[in-house]
Amino acid sequence: TPRVFSGIQPSGQLHLGNYLGALKRFADAQERGVQSIYCMVDLHAITVWQDPADLRNATRELAAGFIASGIDPEKSILFNQSQVPEHAQLAWIFNCVARLGWMNRMTQFKDKAGKNAEKASLGLYAYPALMAADILVYHATHVPVGEDQKQHVELTRDIAAKFNHDYGTDFFPMPEPVIEGAATRVMSLRDGSKKMSKSDPSDASRINMTDDADTIAAKIRKAKTDPDALPSDAKGLEGRPEARNLVNIYAALSDSTVDAVLHEFGGQQFSAFKPKLSELAVDRLAPISTEMAHLMQHTDEIDAILGRGAARAREIATPVIKQTYEIVGLVGS
Ligand code: TYM
Repeated sequence: TPRVFSGIQPSGQLHLGNYLGALKRFADAQERGVQSIYCMVDLHAITVWQDPADLRNATRELAAGFIASGIDPEKSILFNQSQVPEHAQLAWIFNCVARLGWMNRMTQFKDKAGKNAEKASLGLYAYPALMAADILVYHATHVPVGEDQKQHVELTRDIAAKFNHDYGTDFFPMPEPVIEGAATRVMSLRDGSKKMSKSDPSDASRINMTDDADTIAAKIRKAKTDPDALPSDAKGLEGRPEARNLVNIYAALSDSTVDAVLHEFGGQQFSAFKPKLSELAVDRLAPISTEMAHLMQHTDEIDAILGRGAARAREIATPVIKQTYEIVGLVGS
């Protein structure tokens, strides 16, 4: 049976890239009735320094973001990673399976560690092995993510394959990255060659899930574009990264396609298209941020939801760890 797993880091602000690349698609998958497990990956967040009070708040706010985006904690399993110790247990085993050469190829480590990799934490380096554990401790088969996480899911497959090969078993499945839709790589509003990211120092580069209507409209009005009118088909977006990005965002927010959007707006100037995009973005995002703010007034309820989710997650993860230990030869009773 197919089983979906995905995770989001509770660090910094949730933004439109997280929503379109992840949350919105999770809600869509839930509607299709797939068994889904979603995790606030707090252990991943602390691979770089997090202020403890901010981390606590970000974890709850992220949970609120999931629920406000339509993920129902009764239908899906929603929890934070540190409450399910099996993730860290399997991660250690995978630290012993993954090869240094594989880790050295990870582009996210290179981006995050920057020039002075000697100063990066050991956890940041081992990050992808923990991510493999997140997925495989549930024997998940499908991993919906944005384009930037593809390499990590491929590494997860390499780890599963090597574990299975080394121990002569077929215990771990080969999970597949699911990267589909018009907005698997939402770009910065200031620079069409950089992805929208919580770590971009310019707040104008991204739309945060908690931005109010005026802020959203102002950011879209100021978004970088080129001077030409919108083309009438997708081919006309080649070499126009900023135009492509805004059209992708429109298509994803309206559950439409790039072709359909260009069919409607082809030939129009950005001065006409941008107000339509603002209207659509505010229309879709405002109810989510309102609901998030509402949920955040009752953090005790959020904590209870995460606690129940963690208990359900452990029911799946505990037997997997027991069997893994047996396969590896770790003595237990
Ligand atoms: P994170 O927290 O950086 O991002 C969460 C999700 O949002 C997607 N995303 C984007 N999608 C489109 N355009 C963008 N600009 C954009 N920015 C972010 C990400 O691809 C991701 O799907 N390593 C993961 C978290 C993780 C995880 C896992 C994911 C930990 N364990 C297991 C899946 C399965 C991360 O840092 O995502």
